[in-house]
Amino acid sequence: MSKALITGGVGFIGSFLAHKLVVNEDEVVIVDDLSMGRLENIADIQDEVTFYKHTVCDEDFMHNLLLKEKFDYIYYLAAVSSVADSVVRPWYTHLVNQESVVNTLEFIRANNLPIKKFLFTSSAAVYGNAADFPKTEDSHIDPLTPYAIDKYASERYTIDYGRLYNIPTVAVRFFNVYGPRQNPNSEYSGVLSIVTKCLKENKPFTLYGDGSQTRDFVYVEDVVDALIKISTETDEPTVYNIANGDETPLIDVIHTYENIAGIKLNIIQKEARQGDINKSRADVSKLKGIGFKPQWSLHDGLTNYWKYYSEN
Ligand code: UD1
Repeated sequence: MSKALITGGVGFIGSFLAHKLVVNEDEVVIVDDLSMGRLENIADIQDEVTFYKHTVCDEDFMHNLLLKEKFDYIYYLAAVSSVADSVVRPWYTHLVNQESVVNTLEFIRANNLPIKKFLFTSSAAVYGNAADFPKTEDSHIDPLTPYAIDKYASERYTIDYGRLYNIPTVAVRFFNVYGPRQNPNSEYSGVLSIVTKCLKENKPFTLYGDGSQTRDFVYVEDVVDALIKISTETDEPTVYNIANGDETPLIDVIHTYENIAGIKLNIIQKEARQGDINKSRADVSKLKGIGFKPQWSLHDGLTNYWKYYSEN
């Protein structure tokens, strides 16, 4: 049995990870400030996890927790998760997405904390609109927003703390993760959570740009399986893309989803968002090289997502 800290653990991806670790009989501690996360996401496992409502930016709190709990695994998912939000709140984003991460790494180093793995969750946003395609982990970096800059910097700190100080670290770059429990209630929420809500509540959906922007959508269950495999089975400070390896224009995803739901979406078109990426697709060879293959096609993932919302 291992002891794991999940920052952002009642959020969308974090709560799926918490469920999986509880099933694996790990001891799970969650720190989340509930900015996007929701306690209902862990309602069914609340007696099996320890939850702290707290920001990761409070260094005294984090230091005390790290000293007291002596975690084996740290999954760093707490973040301002929206690219567009970071354009509006660059300084706050920086504090959460970079400073808190380096602070935690530094505390682990300075106190020789005996962790088994520190996993940082970076983003495909770091590739920006650089020409190489699809994106391998060695592709050019072109961070277009505060979000992408901070994710890249934190990822590099994570790798470097591994290389320089022999701390077991690893980083992942999420592509576009979707699935149940993603909070749809902010204008900065993930696009498919907003589409789901609009379909369900018969509300108009704002499409930024013409819908030709592509994304590599990956189902949350695949993401969590990849996170556990990467944290437990790799022993090098390096970075992995986590994605499906497919590229789909946003408007096509919307049409597929409309067909699955049997509902037509009322689309209002607006100008593309500042800093938005045109094309995104991962090369997932490195992930496959450690024996991981995504199990969920976009169609199956969307079908399951819609089923979840129809039943809940
Ligand atoms: C997403 C994730 C980010 C992750 C990145 C990796 C969220 C909120 N963002 O960023 O954490 O690091 O993938 O690739 O989960 N759009 C609309 N209407 C809306 C909302 C969005 O048209 O109401 C468009 C956006 O302009 C964009 C696309 O949908 O072109 C995807 O947007 P979004 O879901 O915010 O994701 P990314 O910016 O790709």
